[in-house]
Amino acid sequence: MEHKRLEIIPEPEWESLIEELIAHKGTAILIGATDSGKSTLARYLIGKLVSKNSVTSFVDSDIGQSSLGLPGTISMKTFKTDRDIEDFDAEKILFIGFLNPAKNISLMIDGTKKMVDSARKDAELILVDTTGLIHGEYGKALKIGKIRAITPQHIIAVQRYNELEHILTMIEGIKIHRIEASRMAKERSGEARIRYRKERFDEYFDNTKVAEFLLDGVSFFYNTKQFTSKETAFKKGTLIGLNHNEDTMALGILLELENTSITFKSPIKSVRGINRVVLSDINLYE
Ligand SMILES: Nc1ncnc2c1ncn2[C@@H]1O[C@H](COP(=O)(O)OP(=O)(O)OP(=O)(O)O)[C@@H](O)[C@H]1O
Ligand SMILES: [Mg+2]
Repeated sequence: MEHKRLEIIPEPEWESLIEELIAHKGTAILIGATDSGKSTLARYLIGKLVSKNSVTSFVDSDIGQSSLGLPGTISMKTFKTDRDIEDFDAEKILFIGFLNPAKNISLMIDGTKKMVDSARKDAELILVDTTGLIHGEYGKALKIGKIRAITPQHIIAVQRYNELEHILTMIEGIKIHRIEASRMAKERSGEARIRYRKERFDEYFDNTKVAEFLLDGVSFFYNTKQFTSKETAFKKGTLIGLNHNEDTMALGILLELENTSITFKSPIKSVRGINRVVLSDINLYE
């Protein structure tokens, strides 16, 4: 996939950042505007840290342009070896069900915290990637909320001008690493973002990998609330999360939802343990 092949041109100031992360460990959250190069920097840091024998967990909370998991999810993986980096795929996922974080800021914050708590069991060094939503009240609420919830030791603030300062002035007691956005960071159009998401979903739901399933007697959730299928109509093509309680085991595509039963397509191997299906606003057939 394209996002996995791109060559990263490092900036000289990234080296001292790596040294500081190794020396002090802990959790580091990357914040920055859209297309400032956060995910590319995260990818580079993971590679360097692992090559210097620092086991590193990566939490990808960018639900729009996810680099580790699928769009609409928060995901996590712990990297120990170069081999783990070659398979740049999520180890744990949490289905959020929308692409715009402003839709439910507290779900974004709680989900990110949950993943970070899980990552802390595996690694002393954790990198958290975030969405590019930094402007306005929503941007501030989301970034400050995430920072308060996960209490990181480091903030990696990637900026072109001073576009993060309205957020950074509110931070006390956390080491802020101000990093200039790379000149290589390229703006991507709305179409390119949609295309990227489509490629990620097409790869995951590849016809050779999916099967059809029918589940009966599970609970249905939408936007964190339980509902009965009589209350709301969801169209064929809706992206769904297949959960065991709050943990997402895999994603699926809704085919039919009727009373207490649901049919869907998914690359999941077995539906054993799935007791919750989370519906969403994302429709892959529209
Ligand atoms: N140092 C670099 N070397 C090569 N390409 C880069 C570099 N930094 C960024 N890019 C390119 O610029 C584009 C934007 O970078 P990236 O995806 O890392 O930004 P982002 O801040 O994560 O954006 P978003 O907020 O949308 O997730 C990508 O196409 C990426 O490949
Ligand atoms: Mg990104």
